[in-house]
Amino acid sequence: MRLARVTNRIRFYRQDRWRRELYRDELAALLEENGSPTRPAVQLKDGWAIDASLSLPHLGRVLEDSEKIIAERSGSRLSADPYRSYFQDVWKTEDLEKYPSVLDFATSSDLLATVADYLKCIPSLSTTLPPGIRFVESNAAFDDQPDNPKDSQLYHIDYYSRPNVYVIVLLRDATPEHGPWTFLPRSASQKAAKALGYWSRRRGYRVSDQDVYSAADRKDVLEFCYPRGTVLFIDSSACFHYGSRNSIKSRFQLMLGYTGACRTDFSEAILPPKVYPIRATDSRLRKMVLNKNMLGISSTTEPRA
Ligand SMILES: [Fe+2]
Repeated sequence: MRLARVTNRIRFYRQDRWRRELYRDELAALLEENGSPTRPAVQLKDGWAIDASLSLPHLGRVLEDSEKIIAERSGSRLSADPYRSYFQDVWKTEDLEKYPSVLDFATSSDLLATVADYLKCIPSLSTTLPPGIRFVESNAAFDDQPDNPKDSQLYHIDYYSRPNVYVIVLLRDATPEHGPWTFLPRSASQKAAKALGYWSRRRGYRVSDQDVYSAADRKDVLEFCYPRGTVLFIDSSACFHYGSRNSIKSRFQLMLGYTGACRTDFSEAILPPKVYPIRATDSRLRKMVLNKNMLGISSTTEPRA
């Protein structure tokens, strides 16, 4: 992560500086131009925040469209070679155009104000790991060994991009039977990470419950069990988390991943980037969110050389 951070800081120095300057100097104007925020921005506290208002802009459209996708694609394995045995991402590139509600939601001023405030820069939708948009079904029926937690069913802290923000939307109600996204707040996570020697050579990326609870209090654990349409904002690069553990009822989530310009992995050197559709009429802010490498998109916001 350290090497990736240094390399990316050199490679994306100009983009990073530009995104930070625009956040500092022009965020209010950029948000206004993108569409007036409908409320004071939700603030992440201790690495997370929940919006249970069910009223964020475009959320209703997202939920409506999600029912069509669930009806069409859920319940059986879409790929013979699934990325994870208990979890599948059913989002398709063509959905970006077919279901514009998702990008409208992902680039709405209310969401971006929250994410930008946390990242202290104009965010970009992730182009590599994890994909910026995932429409995921967790289902224990897909899993040969549902009683044996593995991969992301075990506690870990994401390494891809620190800090980052996930915006997770429940597309159906979630209860403990749905294998909810489960996490420790940032302060409890950082304390446990230090005590466990996480990120050191002696410690693996995935950590057992037993080890985590030797260094953290179980009563600090939060489960994202809320009604359909509830939104979780979380820094998954600061908070220990796991999910999809024994989802005996199918769990459906939209997962949006936002990063700054400088990631802490090498995924951009290895993977072809996701490309999001951009229209000439899109706001400057929306263009920046959808094009990570953009520089100089208006005469008033040219990056300084
Ligand atoms: Fe993760």
